[in-house]
Amino acid sequence: MPAQTLPDLTLSTLPTSSCPERADWRDRLRDHLLRLGPDTRLNRFLGWTSDAAIAKYAARTAPVALIEARVGDHLCGMAELHVRPGPWPVAEIALSVEDAWHRRGIGAALFASAVRAARTRDVREIWVFYLKSNLAIRKISERAGFTRIEDADPAMVSAHLGRSLAEDEAAAWNTAPLPVPVKGPPANLPG
Ligand SMILES: CC(C)(COP(=O)(O)OP(=O)(O)OC[C@H]1O[C@@H](n2cnc3c(N)ncnc32)[C@H](O)[C@@H]1OP(=O)(O)O)[C@@H](O)C(=O)NCCC(=O)NCCS
Repeated sequence: MPAQTLPDLTLSTLPTSSCPERADWRDRLRDHLLRLGPDTRLNRFLGWTSDAAIAKYAARTAPVALIEARVGDHLCGMAELHVRPGPWPVAEIALSVEDAWHRRGIGAALFASAVRAARTRDVREIWVFYLKSNLAIRKISERAGFTRIEDADPAMVSAHLGRSLAEDEAAAWNTAPLPVPVKGPPANLPG
């Protein structure tokens, strides 16, 4: 049975790039990441990460949206949504929940919210990268429909949700407007 989501859990999505005046999210992100226990931190950053590296990361990361999970007033989890724009826009989700709040459905709720935020940006694919030993995110992402892809690093998993190029081209073909008929007799025929 899926983990029970807390009744007083609230999720708020902050569009980071369009709200420079609300850049205090960086301090909240840094403090949240510094509160993660060693294993949670390892899973979040896919390797050992110092406090200084986390501070640097929080100062520089550039998500298009940040989702904050609170229980009452307590910030207990955060998800970053990154989007690489271009003709084939691709999103990446990175998230964490503080140790005292694990296994209460917060991670799954954050992940679902990040997927929804990615979809509103019309991305073609959404990716999540995690260590092979990370059963929690594997469960969460596979329930959300993500498929694991073979990674060059045997300790890592890349999982994605999205349309293949062939599906996308077929959809474009099916929804393309029909050519507008030329009014009047064709130019080569006598009138
Ligand atoms: C991944 C993470 C966000 C999950 O947060 P969470 O709030 O504990 O997740 P949920 O409560 O929504 O749990 C989802 C499922 O995973 C399971 N799960 C949670 N932790 C688990 C663990 N350590 N081992 C096995 N399963 C676990 C839960 O039981 C639940 O399954 P269920 O519904 O069948 O009971 C959290 O473990 C975390 O912050 N990890 C470090 C960061 C990270 O790994 N990020 C992903 C890569 S960027």
